[in-house]
Amino acid sequence: EVPSISERYDNSFTIGAAVEPYQLEGMNGEVLKRHYTSIVAENVMKPINIQPEEGKFNFKEADKIVKFAKENNMDLRFHTLIWHSQVPEWFFLDKNGNPMIEETDPKQREKNKKLLLKRVEKHVKTIVKRYKNDVDAWDVVNEVIDEYASNDKGLRESPWYQITGTDYIKVAFETARKYGGKDAKLYINDYNTEVQPKRDLLYNLVKDLLEQGVPIDGVGHQAHIQIGWPSIQEIEDSIRLFASLGLDNQITELDVSLYGWPPRPAYPTYEDIPESEFERQAVRYNALFELYVRLDSNISNVTFWGIADNHTWLNDRAEQYNDGVGVDAPFVFDNEYQVKPAYDVIMD
Ligand code: XIL
Repeated sequence: EVPSISERYDNSFTIGAAVEPYQLEGMNGEVLKRHYTSIVAENVMKPINIQPEEGKFNFKEADKIVKFAKENNMDLRFHTLIWHSQVPEWFFLDKNGNPMIEETDPKQREKNKKLLLKRVEKHVKTIVKRYKNDVDAWDVVNEVIDEYASNDKGLRESPWYQITGTDYIKVAFETARKYGGKDAKLYINDYNTEVQPKRDLLYNLVKDLLEQGVPIDGVGHQAHIQIGWPSIQEIEDSIRLFASLGLDNQITELDVSLYGWPPRPAYPTYEDIPESEFERQAVRYNALFELYVRLDSNISNVTFWGIADNHTWLNDRAEQYNDGVGVDAPFVFDNEYQVKPAYDVIMD
């Protein structure tokens, strides 16, 4: 058995992994218990899975992860209360089943807004009350910034935004605080938080919300990154920037893709990946964890978006951009749970 990653970083931050319920058993379960002290659901706590129909909450799969975390003394991140993706349509339909975003009558639009905010409140309240004693960090909203949005604040023009403006964000945080208590750690989570102009758009929003008294405790940096992008300096600047607002930072969905964007060309199978790629990746992991440790007073958790290379959402993307054939290899354990060069450097 190889030394535990979370023990290695015990003085700095907890180390987590994203999981599907089936990964709580077998080899995955063993690696989880040995190396990670924090877990997060890769999918089963998202709105579409937790409240697929209005008022019909489905906690079955989520509960499995909560139970595993408890039994093994692990921290739990909740991902995610509100998101524009993996969200059921019903949230955005009015009482007559019509899409709220198509409503033109100002009075009816005002009613729709109220209704949607009620739904946000109920969704958040129900979940937070249920899991308040189990969850250590909540992704309250996910990916609310879109640097390509047509408004000048870079607010993602999701149905949430089109119907409520930024009120859905406020209501989500306020409700999470109300029912989670002051100990609930509340995060705003996003990707490309290191990269301009997105970093500053997120910063401006967070600052603005804090000034309005919205209870945000930290920023979740997804960190779906590549071997050469973004730069270590950009990552450092971003963490320091949000820390300057008095906020915690968590690295919430770390994976280091072998590819640029789009991931093309991709290696067709795992066996096609040359060892030199893993060496290149290890150099990156080394610099990354050196930085995280240097900033550890501002970072409370580092979570990988998976356990080992045999299960990663990046494979779906590699396939998607390479005619259905392609793999990625973003983690420190390979597709047979053996340690990679990246493991050796971060344990050094
Ligand atoms: C991804 C999951 O990994 C996939 O299994 C699913 O099909 C789509 O969502 N940003 C997020 C995560 O916040 O929820 C996403 O997870 C990856 C990007």
